[in-house]
Amino acid sequence: MLDRFNWGILGPGRIAQRFAADLERLPDARLLAVGSRSAERAESFASAHGAQRAYDSYAALASDPDVQAIYVATPHPFHLETAQLCLQQGKAVLCEKPLAANLAQTESLVASARQHGAFLMEAMWTRFNPVMIQVRTWLAEGRIGEPRLVTADFGFAGTVDPASRLFNPALAGGALLDVGVYVVSLAHMVFGSPPTRIKATAAVGETGVDEQTALALAFAGGGLASLTCAICTNTPQMARIDGTGGRITIPAFWHATEATLEPLHGEPITTRGDASYHYEAAEVMACVRAARLESDAMPLDESIAIAATLDAARHAVGVRYPFDAR
Ligand SMILES: NC(=O)c1ccc[n+]([C@@H]2O[C@H](COP(=O)([O-])OP(=O)(O)OC[C@H]3O[C@@H](n4cnc5c(N)ncnc54)[C@H](OP(=O)(O)O)[C@@H]3O)[C@@H](O)[C@H]2O)c1
Repeated sequence: MLDRFNWGILGPGRIAQRFAADLERLPDARLLAVGSRSAERAESFASAHGAQRAYDSYAALASDPDVQAIYVATPHPFHLETAQLCLQQGKAVLCEKPLAANLAQTESLVASARQHGAFLMEAMWTRFNPVMIQVRTWLAEGRIGEPRLVTADFGFAGTVDPASRLFNPALAGGALLDVGVYVVSLAHMVFGSPPTRIKATAAVGETGVDEQTALALAFAGGGLASLTCAICTNTPQMARIDGTGGRITIPAFWHATEATLEPLHGEPITTRGDASYHYEAAEVMACVRAARLESDAMPLDESIAIAATLDAARHAVGVRYPFDAR
């Protein structure tokens, strides 16, 4: 008999459906319970994804003694409150990106995890896909020498709707937090430390959120990142890492299925793999089973540093949320 790991899902919306479907790829995991603000939505999601238990409140899900880890998939401003509810019950938490809506909230969330001795990880799923694992291995092996420049973009053409999660400042809308977090996270991952200088410029739309933003980051040792993000324009969603000894190119980097290493001397090598949300879930399970409170691949201090970069960029372009400190 397999020792099945029991998952709960909190906030059964759009991304939760993708996560639940991919979780089925793990034979030693099961979706046991779903928590929603509405009994009807919880029941309909539970029946669509084979979960035995449906709760009409997040608190009820968080107190289910059989649930081992909870995937938090609410919009960004509710990550802090909903993830804290789970951590207080000692649950392991995989919380959607960005870990919280600003630096202060991110620090509070990490402090809660540490206070309660519970596992917490930002669901930066990109890092756990096999292609990105290979990229990290190439970097660690020095296959492109010293990384010098990260160039990455993530833009898509959203439909302007002032009430939507993407465009509403009260829901922490804007390109930086929705997709900018991917390019910023990539640069942090490559250079392994927070940037020392952050410049940003943005086009702020009528609803008061950044619809597209360009960032220039400088890292200790001279590394640079040139990053763009948008919720109003489709862009190629490419990443390139140029180093002193070669280059890595990653098409559709945030859900990469291939990447190419071009050493300065030698033949190019292309790696391929699938992109799926079950890889990040497997990381959570491995950490929990090993009694680890955070993941080496997405450590909490790095999530805090990423939140600091996003805050600095957002403040530089003049976007403020109603819940930011004045
Ligand atoms: N990893 C990825 O590829 C990826 C992709 C998309 C989004 N995301 C992240 O996932 C999170 C959720 O995004 P989403 O697009 O799935 O969001 P969504 O569908 O708009 O909302 C998710 C769920 O959150 C719950 N919720 C709780 N309070 C809410 C409120 N005040 N307003 C609206 N919904 C509320 C709702 O569930 P109930 O009311 O039923 O409880 C809702 O169905 C975001 O942080 C986003 O950055 C990640």
